[in-house]
Amino acid sequence: MIEGRGITKTFASRGGVLGSQSVTALRGVDFLIPRGGAVSFIGESGCGKTTLGRILAGLETYDGGQLIVGDTDLSTLKPKAREPHFRRVQLIHQDPYSALNPTRTIESTLRDPLRLRAAQTGKPASWVASQTEELLSLVGLDPSYVLPRYPHQLSGGMRQRVVVARALTVEPEVLVADEAVSMIDVSLRLGILGLLRQLRETLGVSILFITHDVATARYVGADGELYVIYRGQVVERGPVETVLADPVHPYTQCLLSAIPVLHGLERPGEDRLVPKEPLDEKMEPAGCLFAPRCPFATEVCVSERPVLGRLGGTPQHHACFFPASRHVVATPLR
Ligand SMILES: Nc1ncnc2c1ncn2[C@@H]1O[C@H](COP(=O)(O)OP(=O)(O)OP(=O)(O)O)[C@@H](O)[C@H]1O
Ligand code: SF4
Ligand SMILES: [Mg+2]
Repeated sequence: MIEGRGITKTFASRGGVLGSQSVTALRGVDFLIPRGGAVSFIGESGCGKTTLGRILAGLETYDGGQLIVGDTDLSTLKPKAREPHFRRVQLIHQDPYSALNPTRTIESTLRDPLRLRAAQTGKPASWVASQTEELLSLVGLDPSYVLPRYPHQLSGGMRQRVVVARALTVEPEVLVADEAVSMIDVSLRLGILGLLRQLRETLGVSILFITHDVATARYVGADGELYVIYRGQVVERGPVETVLADPVHPYTQCLLSAIPVLHGLERPGEDRLVPKEPLDEKMEPAGCLFAPRCPFATEVCVSERPVLGRLGGTPQHHACFFPASRHVVATPLR
């Protein structure tokens, strides 16, 4: 189990359009990834999804809050002592092309981390070879075909499977899949998503699925929770199907309304919404972060910021003064 409590992160600006302003990437994010469970984060570009995934994998620091892995609050440990905990979380990169060293065969890519583990755990050399083959089979690849090859000799889907196999060499408890299929040919995506689902079942590994594509979050994290992030704040969260069928936060409603409708096959959700304004990242509203764009904003929204709270006695949470269930996702025509 991994829990985040009030995780915050601010970056000094890279310059560019934001000038010298700093960027608040995460604003007190709470989350819980249960063992063997799936959690999906969705939100538009720049909302802080990757930052959160990188923090979990120990690739980025956080400024405030607590990250609790198992029973250990990592904030209380020295950086060196955090490393073994971060190894339990492995990141699957968006781009399988750059994630693998092009000058090394797949065999050499997988062998080195396995050798290290064999040395640490006193396993014989023969274990490395058998484990290499086992991991490749687990991710649906034929070891005899793949092992002698270089990354460029494989398809995008095969490469992403190798990336998953490499992540599994350290027996992680959590796989963070950050837009893991967005750069893969559409025809191969379902295979990778199915693999992530299968790993949850066979290895009990938890999946943190980061995406701006609702359909893939729905597929991989069907029985888990969906977190909707807006400008670094979780504005709605709850069981995936509940949030999709009955979103109560206007931002979620706008986000889901933007999913293209398959005209002739689907009926658009009757309450579809569009934001009033485009996003202006330079503006830092005093009240609700979504107020400048929200069709339902009132005076209180402009002066006060709503915090994430529970919707009645339901498992759904929202950060809106006026939550209202609206149906925005398209439904199939009968
Ligand atoms: N190293 C960095 N230095 C400065 N700003 C950064 C850095 N990394 C991220 N940011 C900023 O933090 C915010 C969140 O970025 P992040 O990459 O987490 O968003 P994201 O939700 O993953 O977006 P996308 O969907 O485009 O991948 C953005 O405004 C981004 O510009
Ligand atoms: S708090 Fe107000 S501005 Fe913010 S999302 Fe809810 S209705 Fe819109
Ligand atoms: Mg990202």
